[in-house]
Amino acid sequence: MRTKLLIFFLLAVLQTATVSAIIPNPSRFTHCSGEFVIDANTTLSWDEELRDAAIYLLEYLPLRHFAQTGNGTNSIRLSIDSSLPAEGCALRIDTDRITLSGGSYGGVFNGIQSLLQLLPAQVYAKSLHLPVSVGCCEAVDAPRFDYRGLSLDVARTWIPADRVKRYIDLLACHKINKLHFHLTDDEGWRIELKSHPEFARTGGFRGGDSPVHPRYAKFDEKWGGYYTQRELRDIVEYARIRNIEVIPEIDMPGHSKALGAIRHDILCDFVPDTARTNGLDIRNVWCAAKESNYALIDDIIREVSTIFTSKYIHIGGDEVDMSQWRKCPDCQRLKREKGLNSEKQIEDYFIARVTAILAKYGKVPAVWNEAVDGGTLPKATRVHGWQSIKHCLRAVEKGYPTIVMPGAYFYFDMKQSANEAGHTWAAIFDAKKVLSFDLDRNGFTERHLAKVAGLEASFFSEIYIEHSPEKSDYLDYMLFPRLCAFAEVAWSSRKRNWDDFHSSLVTDHYDRMQAMGIAFRLCTPNVKYADGMLSASTDDGAVIYYTDERNGKRTRYTAPFPCDAPEHFAFCSEYGSAGSCTTGSKEYLRMLTPQVTVTSSMTCSAKNPIENAATYSNKIARTTRAAHAGDWIAYSFAEPMSCRKIEVQTGHIHLRRCLFLAGHVEISEDGKTFVRAAELHNGGAVICPDKPLTAIRIVADGNSDAEDNVVIQSLKIK
Ligand code: ACM
Ligand code: ZN
Repeated sequence: MRTKLLIFFLLAVLQTATVSAIIPNPSRFTHCSGEFVIDANTTLSWDEELRDAAIYLLEYLPLRHFAQTGNGTNSIRLSIDSSLPAEGCALRIDTDRITLSGGSYGGVFNGIQSLLQLLPAQVYAKSLHLPVSVGCCEAVDAPRFDYRGLSLDVARTWIPADRVKRYIDLLACHKINKLHFHLTDDEGWRIELKSHPEFARTGGFRGGDSPVHPRYAKFDEKWGGYYTQRELRDIVEYARIRNIEVIPEIDMPGHSKALGAIRHDILCDFVPDTARTNGLDIRNVWCAAKESNYALIDDIIREVSTIFTSKYIHIGGDEVDMSQWRKCPDCQRLKREKGLNSEKQIEDYFIARVTAILAKYGKVPAVWNEAVDGGTLPKATRVHGWQSIKHCLRAVEKGYPTIVMPGAYFYFDMKQSANEAGHTWAAIFDAKKVLSFDLDRNGFTERHLAKVAGLEASFFSEIYIEHSPEKSDYLDYMLFPRLCAFAEVAWSSRKRNWDDFHSSLVTDHYDRMQAMGIAFRLCTPNVKYADGMLSASTDDGAVIYYTDERNGKRTRYTAPFPCDAPEHFAFCSEYGSAGSCTTGSKEYLRMLTPQVTVTSSMTCSAKNPIENAATYSNKIARTTRAAHAGDWIAYSFAEPMSCRKIEVQTGHIHLRRCLFLAGHVEISEDGKTFVRAAELHNGGAVICPDKPLTAIRIVADGNSDAEDNVVIQSLKIK
């Protein structure tokens, strides 16, 4: 197989290639003279095993003449050519016919994607009118990796089946062929089990009367959902037609709070200290010592095995809070009896037991990289290296087939620039950094590469729930165009340059994504203030708008304009359904850092002292307990402070945790008399004071969330 791929690539580079605007870019693309006209009489024919691919193509291309065989004039022929690599394809557009062959169904499907991208963008809106002409060319292509995936967390934020199918469509258009489906976590259990229907019926919802606690946003409502087995089978089949394999993940032994809230018996037997967490039991790890747990896991795996056709089931293994095993007399007994040296070895034991259950049902485990730290798992175990490139290299060195997915390049829940939504723990990055990913430059030798099964992008959804999760906009924005760049690096190892990629993105792919209905992210406009003139530009031709935040008036930007208060003008750009983040001149973005003293009714930990909240850095202060009604946090300024806007926030910097669930903000001009200025929402509020302030106080109107501390942040003053 490898030799076949090598010969194929050698032949490919020996030919003169020209560049196409196809994303991901084919390894060999040659423009030829002339064009083929697809019209009402064009006949589509296919090899029998390509029937589903043909029907898929017909969703986009409104042809009305079909044949089972033949490749006459005015025809499009889909066929298998077993001399090609499995997912390889050869697409030839001549003046009188189109021939598209692939090494397998997947290869033909990939060729169909190249063909669609050669057609006008409205093909993606399924509104193409015939006749349409397409330039003659030849594209010969095969992917570098068999595994080109996206991991989607539907556990933290629920995404219904029809929207998952939409993402499957969007992945397919980018030749991404795996969906790693993160179905369970602390915040939800999304998969119907006939043997334990209560897992999904109860665990699919958090908040309200559900025992599953609402951890991130929508605190005062019951919210969620789950997939029935029928829906899941439908998703698997929908994906199969689109050359996508769905790999389910049941995250164990950690990340299991939702299930533990329904089935306390899976947890370790010790009395949790709930006094500091407003009564909530925050245990989330399966007890490794209970035989009943392995019987329950058998039930789960038996059903999951029948729903998903993938050979793999991802069984988690990440971020296990080992302190729970340390406190558990049963786990400690297990450790002694089995001669285990550490809690880490308890994890090895647990994963080995689950692996044996998987084997019983003909499945192979996939795990997060922590699970192979011990190196004792069978070498067929597939490892998803998420923590860093080093962790991926380590897994590869140990001989495990590894999916490379370092957060700093491929976690699309990270912010794309400093002033946008998202996490920052791995990195802040946009599509340009994704495109720069290079295994060779990161120390992967030929020997390492032989063990790299592929690449994966991911979206974890902790904060999606606070961004109108009933719609796709936030997810679209976080995924695209980063996923386009990902598709490119997962497809080939060609040397790339951002300017060329960006150019094909803007000139061709923007319109395709538009027609696909994606609310993708545009480059942030560049805004400048100089000599009393405010000006803005973009490098992608999108339309720029600006808003005067004093009166809310929104205007289309056409040319620099005179302005004496640039700090009030917010800019953004739009291109149909796509948009940029809001930005402005440096005067607009400037933050004030007046001298402030922070005090609280709650004491703070020595490690994260209250003074941290006075530094205007991202240092946080942590209290030593949860909050109750009447608790307060006060910010007193050394001098009366004038500003345009103050953002007040309790809780973690990016996650709605360790916060005041209910509360209000009071402001004071003289430091003595306070007036109520805003109610907290998700632990925060925005105040636009019209007079200089001397103090601000955040007051709790009820308990904080179920964590053992409250996080106090600096004010953000604009
Ligand atoms: C992970 O991000 N915990 C796999
Ligand atoms: Zn235990």
